[in-house]
Amino acid sequence: MYINFWYCAATSAELTDKPLKTTMLGQDFVLFRDASGKAHCLSNICTHRGGNLAGGKIHGDCVACPYHGWQFNGAGECVKIPSIGKDGKIPARTRIDAYPTEERYGLVFAFLGDADESERVPIMDIPEYGEDGWRANLITNSYKASYERGLENALDPAHNEFVHPTHGFSGVRDDYSVRPYEMRDMPHGGGFIALFNAPKLTSSETMNKLRNYDGDMEAGSFYVGPHQVLTTIHMTPTNWFHQYSYRTPVHEGLTKTYLINMRNAMTAPEHDEIIIKRQFVVQEQDIVVLEAIEPLVPPHSTARECLMPADKAIVHYRRYLDTLNTKGWRIDSVRVAADKGRVAYAIPSPGRKQAKGWVIDPIPLVDGKQFQSRQAAE
Ligand code: FES
Ligand SMILES: [Fe+2]
Repeated sequence: MYINFWYCAATSAELTDKPLKTTMLGQDFVLFRDASGKAHCLSNICTHRGGNLAGGKIHGDCVACPYHGWQFNGAGECVKIPSIGKDGKIPARTRIDAYPTEERYGLVFAFLGDADESERVPIMDIPEYGEDGWRANLITNSYKASYERGLENALDPAHNEFVHPTHGFSGVRDDYSVRPYEMRDMPHGGGFIALFNAPKLTSSETMNKLRNYDGDMEAGSFYVGPHQVLTTIHMTPTNWFHQYSYRTPVHEGLTKTYLINMRNAMTAPEHDEIIIKRQFVVQEQDIVVLEAIEPLVPPHSTARECLMPADKAIVHYRRYLDTLNTKGWRIDSVRVAADKGRVAYAIPSPGRKQAKGWVIDPIPLVDGKQFQSRQAAE
């Protein structure tokens, strides 16, 4: 798990007029809307004596801790300490980490880290969103596996034949192999387009209209950062699905997926139900496999697995993760787990670069230089 990315914290609909607790990167956060409706994201641990801010109430532009009523605004500043009276001076070190927050595509994103804006990988863009001729559906789910394994699965052209009976033939054809594909480098990631042969969709009339077609299907997978991936499925030369998937690690062994499924065919709302239902079936097929993979987190060294040419995209993704490891952005999950219940941590926010004196320790990270020397030794 890495700091310094925009993670989807909730859907816009989930964030109502009450504080909302959410866990990302193994840490708790409170989300709330201020009086103007703008969403904010703070570390959930009150700097007084560790109260659970998400259990409190919203007062105007602030969230109030349920324990002694301290109030924090969207910038993380403590603006009220009831016990010292209205003229009491509030020390600056009462501040709490506040994370840049953006609402887009019906989702609330928070930037979890202290990297400068120039270093931030953008939220994956959806150019078709709101465009004529396209229909959007939001699908959420969670699975008990690492998001890195989930991304690898999305980048894996060899699993369709076996995991998804709707996309493949379960290996019964003698002439099956994954056709060679070229990986393209892209800003903050990479991807490829592959051609494959798939059965006709006969499960329903709607599906039949989407692909009553014998030619090759074109499918693309493109990752942006360690946790965002676009899958393009061109059912026919004109019927397209573009699936934008934002994965949030709740912790190392639990992932939430926020998927925006864009389609340019069967765009009438009455087709949503069957298309979403089918999407869930396909996701479940992946989840069964993902939840049983060992080890949970992909190994650093490619020598620990026997990778084939079809795994080219996975190797590309792991090399990208190495660049993040070298930057020192990887959370030291072993140490965080060992300290659980005894030390509270916060993901460092951009504010830590502006001011000193923070009550909560920043989360331990794996040293980038140590990572490089360990890799050189492997
Ligand atoms: S613990 Fe939050 S106000 Fe005391
Ligand atoms: Fe899959």
